[in-house]
Amino acid sequence: SEEEVCTKSPSIPIYACQRKTPVNHLNHHFTCALEALAEGAEFSESDGRALAFRRAASVLKSLPFRVAKIEQLRGVPCLGKHSIRIIQELLDLGACKEVEQIRSNEMNKVMKVFMSVWGVGLKTATRWYRDGLRSLSEVRASPSVKLTRMQQAGFEYYRDLARPVSHVEADTITAAIRALLPNSFITITGGFRRGKDAGHDVDLLLTHPDEGGEVGLLSKLLEHLNEQGSVMFQDYRDNTYKETNAAGFNESKSTMDRFERCFTILRLPLSPRVTSHKDDKVTGRQEVNEAVTSHYTTNLRKKIPEPGERAVRVDFVVCPYSQYAFALLGWTGSQQFERDLRRYASHEKAMILSSHHLFDKQQVRVLTISHTLH
Ligand code: GTP
Ligand code: MN
Ligand code: MN
Repeated sequence: SEEEVCTKSPSIPIYACQRKTPVNHLNHHFTCALEALAEGAEFSESDGRALAFRRAASVLKSLPFRVAKIEQLRGVPCLGKHSIRIIQELLDLGACKEVEQIRSNEMNKVMKVFMSVWGVGLKTATRWYRDGLRSLSEVRASPSVKLTRMQQAGFEYYRDLARPVSHVEADTITAAIRALLPNSFITITGGFRRGKDAGHDVDLLLTHPDEGGEVGLLSKLLEHLNEQGSVMFQDYRDNTYKETNAAGFNESKSTMDRFERCFTILRLPLSPRVTSHKDDKVTGRQEVNEAVTSHYTTNLRKKIPEPGERAVRVDFVVCPYSQYAFALLGWTGSQQFERDLRRYASHEKAMILSSHHLFDKQQVRVLTISHTLH
């Protein structure tokens, strides 16, 4: 049986980037519990604890067997005492008190609802909670709440954005974008590149086989999309990759990259339409009010959308061909994989990895990769 094969301690690397992390692994029962605890720790700003739970969950995803006895975890790295205790309790009782408490915790539940709005992160959600707000309708009704443009769009398209994007939708969007920019290379990144069959958005990396040919691509694309009335929201940021040191290395500590990019909400299908932008906005707003007021009610009045018609989050990022390998790596995720990849580079190789390049601290130079796309 599975268990017998795996009772001796398996040799598992400590960095997530050295392990396989299949989408369909065998330990969801445990990883979901540990991730719930991680999330709870994040909500109460215990980052160290959160990271420990995330690491524990990550390593369990790599196991080629379903954990049935705690002894099977002997020698498995990244499992702290607390995580082991949780796994033990799940094995013994099928459930874990601490996890149940977190799941039913009032603050956690409210924070999750707040953060389900696009543009609302931990900081905003915490502020709203501390201000005594407990539901999305209370947020909307509060005169003291100032929403960012992104959050406004998050509310406006709440219903559509809460619906997962399917793999088919992602492929359709990618094909439509490729048709608009026939001479550029467009790669789907993010969760879909990792093999997930649904996601919260579509992440597209744009480049051009001629160095410098990528300049202006995104503006042209956005112009097209705006002309056909497909852009419900856009948050554009130009390339800020300029400030490099003498070695050609960008010393920014941030894990955010400096590529030109645009976070958008696009309306599907991506084809020219006759209806005006203004009319669409009105429809969107009505849907939001409905979503907000019905958030806690069980009697959800489901509006049946026209087939294929919906708003979808699409992220575009543009990179020069010379940085394509690093950009692709950086935008593929997962967060845990990226985190450990950077840690591995730094701790094991004395290098600094970013979405732009790999910097060798000993040679004091930027390493480049010559590669061809396809
Ligand atoms: P779903 O969209 O929920 O399916 O998951 P995802 O893994 O695709 O997440 P998301 O779209 O948020 O991010 C995709 C990848 O891009 C992840 O690895 C992120 O770490 C990375 N990412 C997102 N935003 C940025 C950014 O501004 N800079 C950099 N360098 N990476 C980013
Ligand atoms: Mn994504
Ligand atoms: Mn994204």
